[in-house]
Amino acid sequence: EEEGEKTLRSPICCIMGHVDTGKTKLLDCIRRTNVQEGEAGGITQQIGATYIPADNIRERTKELKADAKLNVPGLLVIDTPGHESFKNLRSRGSGLCDIAILVVDIMHGLEPQTIESLNLLRMRNTEFIVALNKVDRLYGWKVCRNAPIGKAMKLQSRDVQLEFEHRLTQIITQFKEQGINTELYSKNKERGETYSIVPTSAISGEGIPEMLLLLVQWAQKTMVEKLTYSNEIQCTVLEVKVIEGLGTTIDVVLVNGVLHEGDEIVVCGFQGPIHTTIRSLLTPHPMKELRVKGAYIHHKEIKAAQGIKITGQNLEHAVAGTALYVVGPDDDVEEIKESVMDDMRNVMSRIDKSGEGVYVQASTLGSLEALLEFLKTPVVSIPVSGIGIGPVHKKDVMKASVMLEKKKEYATILAFDVKVTPEARELADDIGVKIFIADIIYHLFDQFKAYIDNLKE
Ligand code: GTP
Ligand code: MG
Ligand code: NA
Repeated sequence: EEEGEKTLRSPICCIMGHVDTGKTKLLDCIRRTNVQEGEAGGITQQIGATYIPADNIRERTKELKADAKLNVPGLLVIDTPGHESFKNLRSRGSGLCDIAILVVDIMHGLEPQTIESLNLLRMRNTEFIVALNKVDRLYGWKVCRNAPIGKAMKLQSRDVQLEFEHRLTQIITQFKEQGINTELYSKNKERGETYSIVPTSAISGEGIPEMLLLLVQWAQKTMVEKLTYSNEIQCTVLEVKVIEGLGTTIDVVLVNGVLHEGDEIVVCGFQGPIHTTIRSLLTPHPMKELRVKGAYIHHKEIKAAQGIKITGQNLEHAVAGTALYVVGPDDDVEEIKESVMDDMRNVMSRIDKSGEGVYVQASTLGSLEALLEFLKTPVVSIPVSGIGIGPVHKKDVMKASVMLEKKKEYATILAFDVKVTPEARELADDIGVKIFIADIIYHLFDQFKAYIDNLKE
């Protein structure tokens, strides 16, 4: 970076809101990608990260202000699921971010996970803007592709403008009922006290320029201290996943500092602290989603803020949502190992103490946590005796089979978003272990419930 200028890192922005309000679609619109259409059931079930370089932001906002000066290298956007089962991922995302976009569907107003997200943001005092999405669904909307919303709104008929005003007023009232002052961004004279609402369409792109500019300008204006780059490593594990050809990898968000290939690291593991070395540091290309498998760029070193995929040995049991530490020359490894394990208690507390329960297998630790959270909810309430990530192998079937003697209906594997190897399937059929597979979290419950009801008859 240039001499003499204060170095700011990219702000980390989390995108939150109720299911299907258009969070992923908004990112697709910014990235010019098609991530949302590739999602099972059209719902996001993992946490993702995308780096948007300042140049792309300049390009998308040029119609607004030719002189818009951006002092940040870019924006790191974290996509989160809106489905109710994924509160842990929303919480993880909001815990990492400097600023957030709360997405509200203009046709629906505030919904349960809008309020839940709002409360997560309030709890952490996180600044946010509201994207009032799907304006193109207003009856008679005239598409002004990718235009600033200020310009697009002027081109609408009187009826559209009236319907917009009406819905906006209702939604401002709903926010007020939650104790939050909001106002249309162009009328908002008290930023900081009153949150700005930007109307958007993720399909035709209106309002995206204002949304981006508002976010970045607000962050760089009010968060200079927080965004001033620091060398001290601050890094969180987002997800743990097995990638063909790479083995088990961890997706991390590097908030501050520099990571190098070969760095000695310590992360929290299900079976104790993991002390290993960074084998490779990978990122997707800018404007591409980290959670979608694609071409990765290899880096010798990488500077914050970034979403990064790390490969290395022994990462299988790493716990998502926990901190990653780099061991420096003067550090005591044993001390670091102890402190990383503090984060662990939460996940282990989900496993039933009685030792009786189903076996749960998921593609990532993030989705495993979400499934565990879901199984714990009172209406579902299925005890869990064992957990695993990645494809279901024979060894998992063996573990689940322990229940055949204790409680037969629990000799079951709930497999979420994972494959079952043919050998595992064969063994399960032989010894009487049930395997239910689904790529939508609540379908597992439906299948299991039908099975239990059937047994009772
Ligand atoms: P989850 O991640 O599952 O919580 O959903 P999401 O908030 O990411 O919403 P998503 O991007 O999956 O969009 C949900 C549906 O709404 C999809 O069918 C989108 O095509 C549609 N959609 C999203 N944004 C818009 C919009 O601005 N206008 C219209 N007409 N449809 C939209
Ligand atoms: Mg989504
Ligand atoms: Na969706």
